[in-house]
Amino acid sequence: MPVITEIEDLKRIYKRRVPKMFYDYAETGSWTEQTFRENSSDFDKLRLRQRIAVDMTGRNTATKMVGQDVSMPVALAPVGLTGMQHADGEILAAKAAEKFGVPFTLSTMSICSIEDVAENTEKPFWFQVYTLKDDDFMRRLVDRAKAANCSALVITVDLQIMGQRHKDLKNGLSAPPKLTLRSMANLATKVPWGLEMLQTKRRFFGNIVGHAKGVSDPASLSSWTAEAFDHSLDWERIKFLRSLWDGPVILKGILDVEDAKMAANVGADAIVVSNHGGRQLDGALSSIRMLSSIVEAVGDKIEVHLDSGIRSGQDVLKAIAMGAKGTYIGRAFVYGLGAMGEKGVTKALETIHKELDTTMALCGRRDVHDLDRSNLLIPKGFEGDWVE
Ligand code: GLV
Repeated sequence: MPVITEIEDLKRIYKRRVPKMFYDYAETGSWTEQTFRENSSDFDKLRLRQRIAVDMTGRNTATKMVGQDVSMPVALAPVGLTGMQHADGEILAAKAAEKFGVPFTLSTMSICSIEDVAENTEKPFWFQVYTLKDDDFMRRLVDRAKAANCSALVITVDLQIMGQRHKDLKNGLSAPPKLTLRSMANLATKVPWGLEMLQTKRRFFGNIVGHAKGVSDPASLSSWTAEAFDHSLDWERIKFLRSLWDGPVILKGILDVEDAKMAANVGADAIVVSNHGGRQLDGALSSIRMLSSIVEAVGDKIEVHLDSGIRSGQDVLKAIAMGAKGTYIGRAFVYGLGAMGEKGVTKALETIHKELDTTMALCGRRDVHDLDRSNLLIPKGFEGDWVE
């Protein structure tokens, strides 16, 4: 196994191993990708305050997210098409997560189905749904998640329509890949990926194909979203969707203080401050810049989590110090998965944990619960000074 010291190492191997279409799907933002880039580069603007001669023995990174124990405040985010990054990808990532003691969130747009993941894991995982217009399909999805013993429902609230990702359109993204001259030329260079893929039966959208009615192209994520998603979504509808689930509900995709206040009123247990990894509204601010004002507005009423841009344990520490109670990694675990399957996801989690733990110690903190803004140097105007 090559020496992996950072998430970037996994990304390099991932890029070599996985078909371009799926690498591009993960590694994209919408339109100019400004928000996608700034999600990460804004983390770099926050600096850390070094402290010395503080007892650093007996450190703790364990905490809770929506009342559930986690070995560090990091969950695996729902990522569509994960089973195209590596054969049986969702099962492998869920296994790595459960062994590490962090939540795995299965996307509705996964390749392995809810049942596939449940049959191959022991601990409950989380399930993510979109805001779909078909009540019947929505109820059946949620019932399947209940039957699979999922322990939280994540409702994505920032994708009624899809932000345009140029690369996906140019590549003709589909699952499984459609065989064109261009895709075949690229697939021919990805032999280990292809051989593993031939050995699994899971190559279609497992939660959708055979379950959703009237889907004109079941291999195309963009045509399914265009047909099935509820363009008329409002807060009443979100309240209704929340009522379908008895356990913890997490609303993912809040980037505005007013929306955060509304979310706190519909009975959600947590919100994820998120711009969907820069894949929806390009030009929106990075999640880390929006975090403080949202925590200030609703942090005493609802648990505030953050995703978008996290590529290291230092990023996790910065988000927690800025007030998040939990974070999510998407691309960072996909790089590991695409590079080396379950072992790669474990490596990504170990890397992030080690970075978090060591950085915490060098900042003079022994417990993740003690992190706060005093551990950071926050540049003036970081949150922006905008005309009202
Ligand atoms: C789906 O949620 C995506 O961002 O592709």
